[in-house]
Amino acid sequence: MEKVKIMIDGLEIEVEKGTTVLEAAKEVGIHIPTLCYLKNVNEPSSCRACVVEVGPRLIASCTLKAEDGMNIKTNTKKVREARKTVVELILSDHKRECTSCLRNEKCELQSLANNLNIRELRFEGERTRAEIDYSSPAIVRDIEKCILCGRCIATCSNVQTVNAIGFINRGFGTIVGPSFDKPLADSVCINCGQCILACPVGALYEHENINDIWREIENPDKLVVVQTAPAVRVA
Ligand code: FES
Repeated sequence: MEKVKIMIDGLEIEVEKGTTVLEAAKEVGIHIPTLCYLKNVNEPSSCRACVVEVGPRLIASCTLKAEDGMNIKTNTKKVREARKTVVELILSDHKRECTSCLRNEKCELQSLANNLNIRELRFEGERTRAEIDYSSPAIVRDIEKCILCGRCIATCSNVQTVNAIGFINRGFGTIVGPSFDKPLADSVCINCGQCILACPVGALYEHENINDIWREIENPDKLVVVQTAPAVRVA
């Protein structure tokens, strides 16, 4: 396998050609934050939390292939400010009820905001509004917390091959859900829950009454939890 030499934060390393800068940095213990990235499952390069500096440019490292002689900086002022702006923009359309959220202190967005020392938000504007979808006996969907990373969609389609959810609408109106914005219970969802594991925030979570509901349902055989692939691990 052909190798390339790159410089990351002053450290010269050799990696296989085709390795992304994100993975190369990981190999030498340099942490670059990510939100939308799930290795080999979801690599849309859409959140931009992973930007690094290469020459005069800021580039998303999760899809940037290492090239011979590349000089990458992962923690400059410019990089930190860009990441901060990215996270502030995401937070500007996020239901920020962190203290009562199930993912409090286990939320990737909250953790990144803390690491970037975000103490106040510069951006306020229109917010996505939607009722919480409690229709499924297993999975609750809170669109107002969704950050549109697409990890749940990719897991549902590429890993589980169920295709119950996708992006709906366009522009600011974009949300994640079953086609035609139907309730989850009316979709082909098999209640495997892998989307919950893939979600970086609290937009998808296990129904708190799941055990009661399962006892109550008339025909439980129809709702057996199926796991067709190993659980997705957060990168
Ligand atoms: Fe790279 Fe989202 S993690 S763009």
